[in-house]
Amino acid sequence: MKKVLILILSFVAVLSIQAQKFDLAKTPPMGWNSWNKFACDINEDLIRQTADAMVSTGMKAAGYEYINIDDCWHGTRDSLGFIHPDPIRFPSGMKALADYVHSKGLKLGIYSDAGTQTCGGRPGSHGYEYQDAITYASWGIDYLKYDWCSTTGINAENAYKTMRDALRSAGRPILFSICEWGDNNPWLWAKDIGHMWRTTGDITNCFDCEKGFGGWSSLGVLQILDKQKDLRKYAGPGHWNDPDMLEVGNGMSLNEDRAHFSLWCMLAAPLISGNDLRNISKETLSILTNAEVIAIDQDALGIECLKYLDFGNLEVYAKPLSNKEVAICFLNRGETAIPVDFNWKEFPVRDALSGMNFEFGSKVYNIRDLWLHKNIGSTATSLKATIPARDVIMLKLSE
Ligand code: GLA
Repeated sequence: MKKVLILILSFVAVLSIQAQKFDLAKTPPMGWNSWNKFACDINEDLIRQTADAMVSTGMKAAGYEYINIDDCWHGTRDSLGFIHPDPIRFPSGMKALADYVHSKGLKLGIYSDAGTQTCGGRPGSHGYEYQDAITYASWGIDYLKYDWCSTTGINAENAYKTMRDALRSAGRPILFSICEWGDNNPWLWAKDIGHMWRTTGDITNCFDCEKGFGGWSSLGVLQILDKQKDLRKYAGPGHWNDPDMLEVGNGMSLNEDRAHFSLWCMLAAPLISGNDLRNISKETLSILTNAEVIAIDQDALGIECLKYLDFGNLEVYAKPLSNKEVAICFLNRGETAIPVDFNWKEFPVRDALSGMNFEFGSKVYNIRDLWLHKNIGSTATSLKATIPARDVIMLKLSE
């Protein structure tokens, strides 16, 4: 009897150690991904140089951790079904690359697809899930983005569950990023399957536009923002809505980049930069490494913002934070500056979802401007400011 009990207890202990291993992404993951800037034009030099730049630019110190290789790293499967990297683009192999990235104190991510082929036409993992998971684990991979091309007739929830289980049985903690574009409402089923799930189609480096490509279209910052409207209740520590990777530094204006980054932080989104870190401008770097804005994204409560006021082109978002603080983001969606004379007392934040209320009528909060890095008074007086076109003012209010 005693032996049986010990056996059961050990089994439970092993299971819970296994589960703990996958207890990742307590705050939204931060890193870099090759797709937005380089698409299929990738190789091991780019990945190594990006890892170097992640450290030398201060991005790593700001919290960015994952170096993620997106589509097109693949070569072919061998006669036993094992996948190999493209021998011309990745001649040293993935294990060597992972060792290099790890030697910088960073983590390495890779990409595959639940279907027969990736979106770039490379071999998908359908039918090879366990074999691929073991391969990734043996290479030392830390993050898997799992796409949804060539999946006709496949059930999304089951497909992502299969890969989750494959990763678990491979035994290495690998962050699992679900990328099925929100087509099958992953927020309803993916909480215990992936650490994050894409909520929309692909982002493009444009603030306010939709670019059609026949069967699909890519979306600007505002188009993606608007699609997050009803999703905040589904996200939290360990399971995040993913409004797609960042386009900061990829061609939008500085105002637009600042607004994009601020909004993603308000959304508690994964912060996966998508620009060329080897040639990053001072201005782009100062956006991506603004510690005060990143801290809003990384707040331990993991509550996504709500749009609490809508005045047309001027919208105001509020994100309840730890320590009874709240972040407030005034967004100017339009193309002309908007002057603001904002009487806090008229606009309390009441968030039924988190149960956190901020009654500016009865309590005075101190205001910190997170882009100016300055304390700018309190909610006792009206906020007088001008929000530039396609830009934000982002504030943190503390008691
Ligand atoms: C899909 C994904 C993108 C990217 C490409 C790669 O479109 O949504 O993020 O991974 O595939 O082909």
